Amino acid sequence: MKTILVTGGAGYIGSHVLNQLSKNKKYNVIVVDNLSTGRKESVIYGDLKIGDVGDHKFMDSVFASHDISAVLHFAGSIVVPESVENPLKYYSNNTINSFKLLEHIAKYNNPPLIFSSTAAVYGELKNGIASEESPTNPESPYGRTKLMTEEMIKDLNISNPKFRYVILRYFNVAGASMDGNIGQSTPQATHLLKAACETAIGKRKSMSIFGIDYPTADGTCIRDFIHVDDLARAHVAAIDYLINGYVSQTLNCGYGAGHSVKEVIEMTKKVSAKNFSVEVAPRRPGDCMMVMSKAEKIKTVLNWIPQNNDLETIVKSALDWEAKLK
Ligand SMILES: NC(=O)c1ccc[n+]([C@@H]2O[C@H](COP(=O)([O-])OP(=O)(O)OC[C@H]3O[C@@H](n4cnc5c(N)ncnc54)[C@H](O)[C@@H]3O)[C@@H](O)[C@H]2O)c1
Repeated sequence: MKTILVTGGAGYIGSHVLNQLSKNKKYNVIVVDNLSTGRKESVIYGDLKIGDVGDHKFMDSVFASHDISAVLHFAGSIVVPESVENPLKYYSNNTINSFKLLEHIAKYNNPPLIFSSTAAVYGELKNGIASEESPTNPESPYGRTKLMTEEMIKDLNISNPKFRYVILRYFNVAGASMDGNIGQSTPQATHLLKAACETAIGKRKSMSIFGIDYPTADGTCIRDFIHVDDLARAHVAAIDYLINGYVSQTLNCGYGAGHSVKEVIEMTKKVSAKNFSVEVAPRRPGDCMMVMSKAEKIKTVLNWIPQNNDLETIVKSALDWEAKLK
Protein backbone atom coordinates (compact mmCIF):
# COMPACT_ATOMS: atom_id res chain seq x y z
CA MET A 1 0.00 0.00 0.00
CA LYS A 2 1.33 3.46 -0.87
CA THR A 3 2.07 5.86 1.99
CA ILE A 4 1.01 9.49 2.02
CA LEU A 5 2.17 12.20 4.39
CA VAL A 6 -0.41 14.66 5.73
CA THR A 7 0.94 17.75 7.50
CA GLY A 8 -1.60 19.53 9.71
CA GLY A 9 -3.90 16.49 9.74
CA ALA A 10 -5.08 17.24 13.29
CA GLY A 11 -6.70 20.47 12.11
CA TYR A 12 -10.11 21.24 10.68
CA ILE A 13 -9.66 20.47 6.98
CA GLY A 14 -6.92 17.87 7.36
CA SER A 15 -9.05 15.78 9.74
CA HIS A 16 -11.94 15.78 7.24
CA VAL A 17 -9.55 14.53 4.57
CA LEU A 18 -8.44 11.76 6.95
CA ASN A 19 -12.12 10.87 7.43
CA GLN A 20 -12.57 10.54 3.65
CA LEU A 21 -9.34 8.53 3.33
CA SER A 22 -10.61 6.14 6.03
CA LYS A 23 -13.58 5.21 3.80
CA ASN A 24 -11.64 3.05 1.35
CA LYS A 25 -8.31 2.67 3.21
CA LYS A 26 -6.43 2.81 -0.08
CA TYR A 27 -3.42 4.59 1.42
CA ASN A 28 -1.27 4.21 4.49
CA VAL A 29 -1.35 7.63 6.18
CA ILE A 30 1.31 9.40 8.26
CA VAL A 31 0.16 12.61 9.94
CA VAL A 32 2.62 15.27 11.11
CA ASP A 33 1.17 17.92 13.41
CA ASN A 34 2.54 20.10 16.21
CA LEU A 35 -0.95 20.38 17.75
CA SER A 36 -0.67 24.18 17.89
CA THR A 37 -4.30 24.52 16.77
CA GLY A 38 -5.14 20.88 16.03
CA ARG A 39 -6.20 18.14 18.46
CA LYS A 40 -4.89 14.59 18.53
CA GLU A 41 -8.48 13.27 18.89
CA SER A 42 -9.13 14.68 15.40
CA VAL A 43 -6.60 12.29 13.86
CA ILE A 44 -9.26 9.64 13.29
CA TYR A 45 -7.23 7.80 10.65
CA GLY A 46 -3.49 7.34 10.18
CA ASP A 47 -0.44 7.38 12.38
CA LEU A 48 0.16 10.71 14.19
CA LYS A 49 3.74 11.92 14.63
CA ILE A 50 3.74 14.97 16.87
CA GLY A 51 6.29 17.50 15.67
CA ASP A 52 6.86 20.65 13.65
CA VAL A 53 7.14 20.85 9.87
CA GLY A 54 9.98 23.33 10.42
CA ASP A 55 11.98 20.91 12.59
CA HIS A 56 14.61 19.62 10.19
CA LYS A 57 15.73 16.61 12.24
CA PHE A 58 12.20 15.47 12.97
CA MET A 59 11.02 15.84 9.35
CA ASP A 60 14.13 14.13 8.03
CA SER A 61 13.39 11.12 10.24
CA VAL A 62 9.77 11.04 8.97
CA PHE A 63 10.87 11.08 5.31
CA ALA A 64 13.78 8.68 5.89
CA SER A 65 11.62 6.05 7.59
CA HIS A 66 8.74 5.95 5.07
CA ASP A 67 8.56 5.63 1.31
CA ILE A 68 6.25 8.61 0.79
CA SER A 69 4.23 8.60 -2.45
CA ALA A 70 2.45 11.96 -1.98
CA VAL A 71 2.36 14.85 0.49
CA LEU A 72 -0.70 16.86 1.55
CA HIS A 73 0.41 20.10 3.18
CA PHE A 74 -2.27 21.63 5.43
CA ALA A 75 -0.04 22.80 8.29
CA GLY A 76 -0.01 26.57 8.59
CA SER A 77 -1.36 29.62 10.37
CA ILE A 78 -4.67 30.81 9.03
CA VAL A 79 -6.09 33.94 10.69
CA VAL A 80 -6.00 36.92 8.29
CA PRO A 81 -6.23 39.74 10.90
CA GLU A 82 -3.54 38.06 13.02
CA SER A 83 -1.30 37.98 9.95
CA VAL A 84 -1.68 41.77 9.69
CA GLU A 85 -0.66 42.19 13.35
CA ASN A 86 2.07 39.57 13.37
CA PRO A 87 3.28 39.04 9.80
CA LEU A 88 6.55 37.36 10.74
CA LYS A 89 4.68 34.50 12.44
CA TYR A 90 2.96 33.93 9.09
CA TYR A 91 6.07 34.21 6.92
CA SER A 92 7.77 31.80 9.28
CA ASN A 93 5.05 29.18 9.62
CA ASN A 94 3.56 29.39 6.14
CA THR A 95 6.39 30.34 3.80
CA ILE A 96 9.60 29.29 5.54
CA ASN A 97 8.20 26.00 6.85
CA SER A 98 6.80 25.21 3.39
CA PHE A 99 10.26 25.91 1.97
CA LYS A 100 11.71 23.42 4.46
CA LEU A 101 9.10 20.84 3.48
CA LEU A 102 10.03 21.33 -0.19
CA GLU A 103 13.66 20.68 0.70
CA HIS A 104 12.67 17.29 2.11
CA ILE A 105 10.48 16.56 -0.89
CA ALA A 106 13.42 17.32 -3.20
CA LYS A 107 15.77 15.19 -1.12
CA TYR A 108 13.42 12.18 -0.90
CA ASN A 109 12.52 11.35 -4.54
CA ASN A 110 10.12 14.24 -5.28
CA PRO A 111 6.77 12.85 -4.12
CA PRO A 112 3.97 14.99 -5.57
CA LEU A 113 2.48 17.69 -3.35
CA ILE A 114 -1.07 18.88 -2.72
CA PHE A 115 -0.86 22.34 -1.22
CA SER A 116 -3.60 24.15 0.77
CA SER A 117 -3.71 27.57 -0.79
CA THR A 118 -6.43 30.14 -0.53
CA ALA A 119 -8.69 32.56 -2.37
CA ALA A 120 -6.83 35.24 -0.38
CA VAL A 121 -4.09 35.09 -3.06
CA TYR A 122 -6.44 36.94 -5.43
CA GLY A 123 -7.23 39.97 -3.26
CA GLU A 124 -9.92 42.41 -4.34
CA LEU A 125 -11.22 41.45 -7.80
CA LYS A 126 -12.89 43.73 -10.33
CA ASN A 127 -16.13 41.71 -10.42
CA GLY A 128 -15.49 39.70 -7.24
CA ILE A 129 -15.11 36.44 -9.19
CA ALA A 130 -11.77 34.66 -9.47
CA SER A 131 -10.75 32.18 -12.13
CA GLU A 132 -7.41 30.45 -11.79
CA GLU A 133 -6.04 32.87 -14.40
CA SER A 134 -7.17 36.01 -12.52
CA PRO A 135 -4.35 38.28 -11.36
CA THR A 136 -3.04 37.56 -7.88
CA ASN A 137 -2.81 40.57 -5.62
CA PRO A 138 -3.21 39.48 -1.99
CA GLU A 139 -4.44 42.10 0.46
CA SER A 140 -2.98 40.50 3.59
CA PRO A 141 0.30 39.03 4.76
CA TYR A 142 -1.56 35.70 5.06
CA GLY A 143 -2.41 35.77 1.34
CA ARG A 144 1.16 36.79 0.45
CA THR A 145 2.68 33.94 2.48
CA LYS A 146 0.49 31.49 0.56
CA LEU A 147 1.27 33.06 -2.82
CA MET A 148 4.99 32.94 -2.10
CA THR A 149 4.64 29.25 -1.31
CA GLU A 150 2.77 28.68 -4.56
CA GLU A 151 5.64 30.36 -6.42
CA MET A 152 8.27 28.19 -4.72
CA ILE A 153 6.28 25.08 -5.64
CA LYS A 154 5.93 26.18 -9.28
CA ASP A 155 9.62 27.08 -9.56
CA LEU A 156 10.62 23.71 -8.15
CA ASN A 157 8.43 22.02 -10.76
CA ILE A 158 10.03 24.09 -13.54
CA SER A 159 13.52 23.16 -12.40
CA ASN A 160 12.58 19.51 -11.91
CA PRO A 161 9.43 18.34 -13.78
CA LYS A 162 9.63 15.02 -11.89
CA PHE A 163 8.19 16.98 -8.99
CA ARG A 164 4.48 17.62 -9.62
CA TYR A 165 1.82 19.43 -7.62
CA VAL A 166 -1.83 20.29 -7.26
CA ILE A 167 -2.35 23.69 -5.66
CA LEU A 168 -5.89 23.93 -4.27
CA ARG A 169 -7.12 27.47 -3.65
CA TYR A 170 -9.86 27.10 -1.07
CA PHE A 171 -12.66 29.61 -0.82
CA ASN A 172 -14.60 29.70 2.49
CA VAL A 173 -14.56 26.27 4.02
CA ALA A 174 -17.48 25.51 6.32
CA GLY A 175 -19.57 22.75 7.91
CA ALA A 176 -18.78 19.39 9.42
CA SER A 177 -18.68 15.84 8.08
CA MET A 178 -22.10 14.58 7.05
CA ASP A 179 -21.45 11.22 8.79
CA GLY A 180 -20.98 13.04 12.13
CA ASN A 181 -17.45 11.60 12.57
CA ILE A 182 -15.60 14.91 12.66
CA GLY A 183 -16.11 18.67 12.62
CA GLN A 184 -14.37 21.89 13.42
CA SER A 185 -12.99 21.71 16.93
CA THR A 186 -10.41 24.52 16.90
CA PRO A 187 -10.67 26.56 20.10
CA GLN A 188 -11.11 30.33 19.43
CA ALA A 189 -11.78 29.68 15.74
CA THR A 190 -12.56 32.88 13.86
CA HIS A 191 -14.62 31.34 11.02
CA LEU A 192 -18.01 32.96 10.56
CA LEU A 193 -20.15 29.82 10.70
CA LYS A 194 -18.24 28.38 13.67
CA ALA A 195 -18.81 31.63 15.59
CA ALA A 196 -22.51 31.65 14.61
CA CYS A 197 -22.98 28.02 15.74
CA GLU A 198 -21.18 28.62 19.04
CA THR A 199 -23.42 31.62 19.67
CA ALA A 200 -26.56 29.69 18.69
CA ILE A 201 -25.87 26.94 21.20
CA GLY A 202 -24.81 29.36 23.96
CA LYS A 203 -21.01 28.88 23.99
CA ARG A 204 -20.54 32.55 23.11
CA LYS A 205 -22.73 35.36 24.43
CA SER A 206 -22.79 37.10 21.05
CA MET A 207 -20.91 37.34 17.79
CA SER A 208 -19.78 40.18 15.55
CA ILE A 209 -20.35 41.17 11.96
CA PHE A 210 -17.26 43.00 10.74
CA GLY A 211 -18.56 45.81 8.54
CA ILE A 212 -22.11 46.47 7.35
CA ASP A 213 -21.14 49.29 5.00
CA TYR A 214 -19.79 47.26 2.07
CA PRO A 215 -21.38 48.09 -1.31
CA THR A 216 -23.39 44.81 -1.37
CA ALA A 217 -27.17 44.28 -1.20
CA ASP A 218 -27.22 43.93 2.61
CA GLY A 219 -23.95 45.77 3.33
CA THR A 220 -22.00 42.67 4.44
CA CYS A 221 -19.23 40.78 2.66
CA ILE A 222 -20.02 38.00 0.23
CA ARG A 223 -18.16 34.71 0.23
CA ASP A 224 -18.23 31.39 -1.62
CA PHE A 225 -18.82 28.76 1.08
CA ILE A 226 -17.73 25.20 0.30
CA HIS A 227 -18.74 22.24 2.47
CA VAL A 228 -15.69 20.66 4.06
CA ASP A 229 -16.63 17.11 2.90
CA ASP A 230 -16.73 18.28 -0.73
CA LEU A 231 -13.33 19.90 -0.24
CA ALA A 232 -12.00 16.74 1.41
CA ARG A 233 -13.19 14.64 -1.56
CA ALA A 234 -11.36 17.03 -3.90
CA HIS A 235 -8.15 16.18 -2.02
CA VAL A 236 -8.71 12.45 -2.36
CA ALA A 237 -9.29 12.96 -6.11
CA ALA A 238 -6.12 15.08 -6.30
CA ILE A 239 -4.03 12.34 -4.64
CA ASP A 240 -5.28 9.76 -7.15
CA TYR A 241 -4.69 12.26 -9.99
CA LEU A 242 -1.06 12.86 -9.02
CA ILE A 243 -0.29 9.24 -8.18
CA ASN A 244 -1.58 8.32 -11.65
CA GLY A 245 1.08 10.62 -13.12
CA TYR A 246 -0.97 13.55 -14.43
CA VAL A 247 0.41 17.08 -14.85
CA SER A 248 0.54 19.83 -12.22
CA GLN A 249 -2.51 22.03 -11.68
CA THR A 250 -3.74 25.06 -9.79
CA LEU A 251 -7.44 24.71 -9.00
CA ASN A 252 -10.07 26.82 -7.29
CA CYS A 253 -12.15 25.02 -4.68
CA GLY A 254 -15.53 26.67 -4.34
CA TYR A 255 -19.07 26.35 -5.63
CA GLY A 256 -19.09 29.52 -7.74
CA ALA A 257 -21.98 30.96 -5.70
CA GLY A 258 -21.99 33.59 -2.99
CA HIS A 259 -23.71 34.13 0.35
CA SER A 260 -23.45 37.24 2.46
CA VAL A 261 -22.36 37.23 6.09
CA LYS A 262 -25.88 38.25 7.10
CA GLU A 263 -27.40 35.38 5.08
CA VAL A 264 -25.20 32.86 6.89
CA ILE A 265 -26.19 34.28 10.28
CA GLU A 266 -29.89 34.30 9.35
CA MET A 267 -29.66 30.67 8.18
CA THR A 268 -27.97 29.70 11.46
CA LYS A 269 -30.77 31.40 13.39
CA LYS A 270 -33.37 29.59 11.29
CA VAL A 271 -31.83 26.12 11.52
CA SER A 272 -31.07 26.43 15.25
CA ALA A 273 -34.36 28.21 15.99
CA LYS A 274 -32.35 30.60 18.19
CA ASN A 275 -32.47 34.38 17.75
CA PHE A 276 -28.99 35.03 19.13
CA SER A 277 -27.31 38.37 19.61
CA VAL A 278 -25.15 39.84 16.82
CA GLU A 279 -23.03 42.96 17.27
CA VAL A 280 -21.81 45.26 14.53
CA ALA A 281 -18.05 45.82 14.55
CA PRO A 282 -15.81 47.84 12.22
CA ARG A 283 -14.41 46.30 9.06
CA ARG A 284 -11.34 44.09 9.58
CA PRO A 285 -8.12 44.87 7.74
CA GLY A 286 -7.50 42.50 4.84
CA ASP A 287 -11.19 41.63 4.21
CA CYS A 288 -12.41 42.03 0.62
CA MET A 289 -16.00 42.91 -0.29
CA MET A 290 -16.76 39.88 -2.42
CA VAL A 291 -14.76 36.74 -3.17
CA MET A 292 -16.30 34.06 -5.34
CA SER A 293 -14.78 31.33 -7.47
CA LYS A 294 -15.07 30.34 -11.03
CA ALA A 295 -15.32 26.68 -10.22
CA GLU A 296 -15.35 24.84 -13.54
CA LYS A 297 -11.72 23.75 -13.88
CA ILE A 298 -11.64 21.45 -10.84
CA LYS A 299 -14.74 19.62 -12.10
CA THR A 300 -13.07 18.87 -15.43
CA VAL A 301 -9.58 18.08 -14.15
CA LEU A 302 -10.46 16.01 -11.07
CA ASN A 303 -13.91 14.86 -12.13
CA TRP A 304 -15.12 16.41 -8.88
CA ILE A 305 -18.85 16.60 -8.27
CA PRO A 306 -20.00 18.68 -5.28
CA GLN A 307 -22.51 16.84 -3.09
CA ASN A 308 -23.38 19.33 -0.35
CA ASN A 309 -23.79 22.54 -2.31
CA ASP A 310 -26.51 24.07 -0.19
CA LEU A 311 -26.24 26.66 2.61
CA GLU A 312 -28.84 24.99 4.83
CA THR A 313 -27.00 21.64 4.62
CA ILE A 314 -23.70 23.33 5.46
CA VAL A 315 -25.19 25.15 8.46
CA LYS A 316 -27.04 22.09 9.75
CA SER A 317 -23.90 19.92 9.64
CA ALA A 318 -21.95 22.58 11.57
CA LEU A 319 -24.69 22.98 14.19
CA ASP A 320 -25.00 19.21 14.69
CA TRP A 321 -21.25 18.99 15.29
CA GLU A 322 -21.22 21.96 17.66
CA ALA A 323 -24.00 20.38 19.72
CA LYS A 324 -21.99 17.15 19.88
CA LEU A 325 -18.91 19.04 21.15
CA LYS A 326 -20.90 20.65 23.99
N1 LIG B 1 -10.26 27.03 6.90
C1 LIG B 1 -10.36 27.73 5.79
O1 LIG B 1 -11.43 28.32 5.48
C2 LIG B 1 -9.18 27.83 4.85
C3 LIG B 1 -9.32 28.59 3.66
C4 LIG B 1 -8.25 28.66 2.79
C5 LIG B 1 -7.08 27.98 3.06
N2 LIG B 1 -6.95 27.26 4.20
C6 LIG B 1 -5.68 26.57 4.46
O2 LIG B 1 -5.94 25.21 4.77
C7 LIG B 1 -4.97 24.72 5.70
C8 LIG B 1 -5.69 24.05 6.85
O3 LIG B 1 -6.56 24.98 7.47
P1 LIG B 1 -7.49 24.58 8.69
O4 LIG B 1 -8.70 25.42 8.61
O5 LIG B 1 -7.64 23.10 8.77
O6 LIG B 1 -6.60 25.12 9.90
P2 LIG B 1 -6.30 24.46 11.33
O7 LIG B 1 -5.65 25.50 12.15
O8 LIG B 1 -7.52 23.80 11.86
O9 LIG B 1 -5.27 23.32 10.93
C9 LIG B 1 -3.89 23.55 10.78
C10 LIG B 1 -3.17 22.36 11.42
O10 LIG B 1 -1.79 22.50 11.19
C11 LIG B 1 -1.09 22.31 12.43
N3 LIG B 1 0.15 23.10 12.31
C12 LIG B 1 0.27 24.45 12.18
N4 LIG B 1 1.56 24.78 12.05
C13 LIG B 1 2.27 23.63 12.08
C14 LIG B 1 3.65 23.32 11.99
N5 LIG B 1 4.57 24.28 11.83
N6 LIG B 1 4.04 22.03 12.08
C15 LIG B 1 3.12 21.04 12.24
N7 LIG B 1 1.79 21.27 12.34
C16 LIG B 1 1.38 22.55 12.26
C17 LIG B 1 -2.05 22.75 13.50
O11 LIG B 1 -1.80 22.20 14.77
C18 LIG B 1 -3.38 22.28 12.93
O12 LIG B 1 -3.66 20.95 13.29
C19 LIG B 1 -4.12 25.93 6.09
O13 LIG B 1 -2.90 25.87 5.39
C20 LIG B 1 -4.94 27.13 5.65
O14 LIG B 1 -4.14 28.22 5.30
C21 LIG B 1 -7.98 27.17 5.10
